[in-house]
Amino acid sequence: MKRILIWDLPTRLFHWLLVTCFTGAWLTSTSDRWLSIHIFLGYLMLGLVLFRLVWGFTGGHYARFESFVRSPMAALRYLQDLAAKRDAAYLGHNPAASLAIIAMLALGLAVALTGIFTQGGEEGQGALTGLLSIGAAAWLKQAHEVLAMLMLVVVSGHLSGVALGSWLHGENLPLTMITGSKLAPDDALASRPFNGTAAVMSLAVAAFGILWFFYAWHEPVEARLGLRGTGLGAPNVAFVGRPLADDPVWREECGSCHLAFHPNLLPARSWKRLMAGQAEHFGTDLALDAPTAAAVQAFLVRNAAERSSTEAAFKINRSIPPSMTPLHITETPYWVQKHHDIRESDWQLPRVKSKANCAGCHLDAVAGTFEDAAMRIPRMAQVQDAVSASPRARP
Ligand code: HEC
Ligand code: HEC
Repeated sequence: MKRILIWDLPTRLFHWLLVTCFTGAWLTSTSDRWLSIHIFLGYLMLGLVLFRLVWGFTGGHYARFESFVRSPMAALRYLQDLAAKRDAAYLGHNPAASLAIIAMLALGLAVALTGIFTQGGEEGQGALTGLLSIGAAAWLKQAHEVLAMLMLVVVSGHLSGVALGSWLHGENLPLTMITGSKLAPDDALASRPFNGTAAVMSLAVAAFGILWFFYAWHEPVEARLGLRGTGLGAPNVAFVGRPLADDPVWREECGSCHLAFHPNLLPARSWKRLMAGQAEHFGTDLALDAPTAAAVQAFLVRNAAERSSTEAAFKINRSIPPSMTPLHITETPYWVQKHHDIRESDWQLPRVKSKANCAGCHLDAVAGTFEDAAMRIPRMAQVQDAVSASPRARP
């Protein structure tokens, strides 16, 4: 007997990265706050599975499909032998494990693809934007969840098999997937390490992670690369920030004629000036009685731009010179700068009409967060409909 390499480095990397993706995707599937991470892990999983399919033909001996893929009958016979305690020890995957591996690869592919279709249809974002109606997306979302559940079942079966195999053969199988080596008969075939492939693979994963989190997650790549409106550069999701302060009286009194502009969009001095002039509010008399006006003003001042922690509030406030007390959000330097290159025809769109109609383009305007990723110029009505029907679009 001698110790030889069974699992080459790319196969081991693939294995543990897939474990990370699968576990992470389950953990992040519960809240929209983690959707960006969830989707990142989904794309990574797709890439890993595609890699493994190629590696099944080009990789080390024990990673190749021809070395371990057997018929389901062979797997059944193996399990029968196992029950009768006359199983043969396999250096590579045994026939039952091989079945689980094929199932996990197929399910991994299906889960990732249905996920990307769901993202495209429901959120109007990602690689497959605009291909599906929201109805089809809803159906695919269910398929996505069922497939993920099935994959969990197969993964559990795989884990039980690993535990059983480790126990029956008295070897630590999870450890062999870390070290890659096993004790084998002298004539057994050893695999090659493929360190170069593993290095390229690690670099590719690292580059993808950096791209996603520093560009795609924080700001649509679209805007940065000058691809605005193409949908190509926004693989991330409509991100809705942490809920901001809310007040029913303010919503009722200030939300009947236009969007109730969140207090964080103007500094306190602007709100005071606006409320002082409530009898001549842009040509209308708001006719608020003194206690209501005071309550609304208190809420506005308490949550004004300088007191808020959103990026929009911070930047709006920073852009206004101290000498200026704007009554229009749309006249603040930051707002002007952020919107100066929007086409005239976009302001005329049926769903926009006015500059003050923030909700026409910002999915989270009602919530007041104005996250970059939640901005969509409603040129594609279908996408816009899909987005506003999603629960994330509501406050
Ligand atoms: C009776 C209808 C009405 C009510 C109620 C109302 N507004 Fe207005 N508001 C208007 C009109 C009309 C404009 C001008 C819109 C325009 O020029 O595009 C306006 C504009 C604004 C603007 C400027 C938007 C911009 O950046 O161009 C702010 C800020 C604003 N209102 C705040 C408030 C607040 C705060 C309240 C609640 C105290 C309120 N409004 C209640 C009618 C109303
Ligand atoms: C015609 C569509 C449209 C309308 C209407 C619109 N915006 Fe925007 N807004 C945009 C676009 C496009 C951007 C992104 C500009 C960029 O990335 O440089 C943007 C960016 C912003 C940003 C910067 C986001 C950030 O965090 O960096 C803020 C804040 C914002 N808008 C606020 C508003 C407010 C408030 C209103 C309403 C008074 C409004 N917008 C109305 C299209 C619109």
